[in-house]
Amino acid sequence: MPELSTIAIIGAGQMGGGIAQAAATSALRAIVHDPFPGALDKCKALHAKLLARAVEKGKMSQPDADAARARISYTPNLDDLRPAQWVIEAVVEDAKVKKDLFARLAALFPDPAVVLATNTSSISITEIATAAGPAPSQARVVGMHFFNPVPVMQLVEVIPGLATSPEVTERTVALAARLGKTPLKANDRAGFVSNRVLMPMINEAFYAWMEGVADPDAIDGIMKLGCNFPMGPLRLADFIGLDTCAHIMNVLADGLNSERYRPCPLLKQLVTAGRLGDKSGRGVFEYPGR
Ligand code: 3HC
Repeated sequence: MPELSTIAIIGAGQMGGGIAQAAATSALRAIVHDPFPGALDKCKALHAKLLARAVEKGKMSQPDADAARARISYTPNLDDLRPAQWVIEAVVEDAKVKKDLFARLAALFPDPAVVLATNTSSISITEIATAAGPAPSQARVVGMHFFNPVPVMQLVEVIPGLATSPEVTERTVALAARLGKTPLKANDRAGFVSNRVLMPMINEAFYAWMEGVADPDAIDGIMKLGCNFPMGPLRLADFIGLDTCAHIMNVLADGLNSERYRPCPLLKQLVTAGRLGDKSGRGVFEYPGR
């Protein structure tokens, strides 16, 4: 098997951009694909800013930052990903979109040694893998769940699907470690471990707000000061995206066959109103200027 030198990252959003940066600072080439050139431009500018900040803070030398930047390329064409030996998909959390993409990726990378990883936060790896063709091709599909902000967060949750080969799982663990992360394995059940535990807690914070147990500042303050969370659950929901939180709760409800996981009515209402959190400038809290 050729040595891993190049990773393709699909989706130039927060997660895809962060994964590309982690790869480039770990001496791997990263090709970032997004069909929207505007998203690629934004991603490139963010890489320049974050690497410059790392130099300012003395965490990285200027030549190392320059080399990392030079290792990342950006393309709107899926065909340009061909030189990669590993793919990490980080597109929107929509099973149909991901499955359509995995069918195209399986065709683009006929070599079964090329791993097709998904950064899904809750969608079944087994289900996504069915789009990659027959069993030998499904064996290379694996969950590689990063956390936001990727350059800061230590964890990669590694999730084999039913068809994933043990060898691919072990290679995924090794890659996560090479990216400077701590890999921990979870089984392919809705939400895996991270969102199975985190999202109901966030959802409960919306219920506490809706039922008047306390206002958002107090709910977050209590959880920050009382439980030592870096962000309160409502601030974290804005950071993740309220639409993403609601979507993950629905995946939990469907996947675990229980209505108790449905999103809180107040969370759904904010999403309907377009209050999606940081990315829309307002969610639970306001973010003027974003
Ligand atoms: N990208 C890169 N680096 C960032 C960053 C970003 N978006 N935001 C902050 N950082 C870096 C800063 O540069 C700083 O680095 P330094 O220590 O080298 O100076 C460091 O993080 C700390 O930043 P700040 O001092 O500005 O701010 P805080 O101390 O408040 O930390 C935080 C910010 C790291 C975001 C912290 O609040 C935190 O850990 N929050 C919780 C994040 C979390 O729970 N993430 C998981 C979300 S769930 C998820 O992603 C899964 C999905 O499936 C839903």
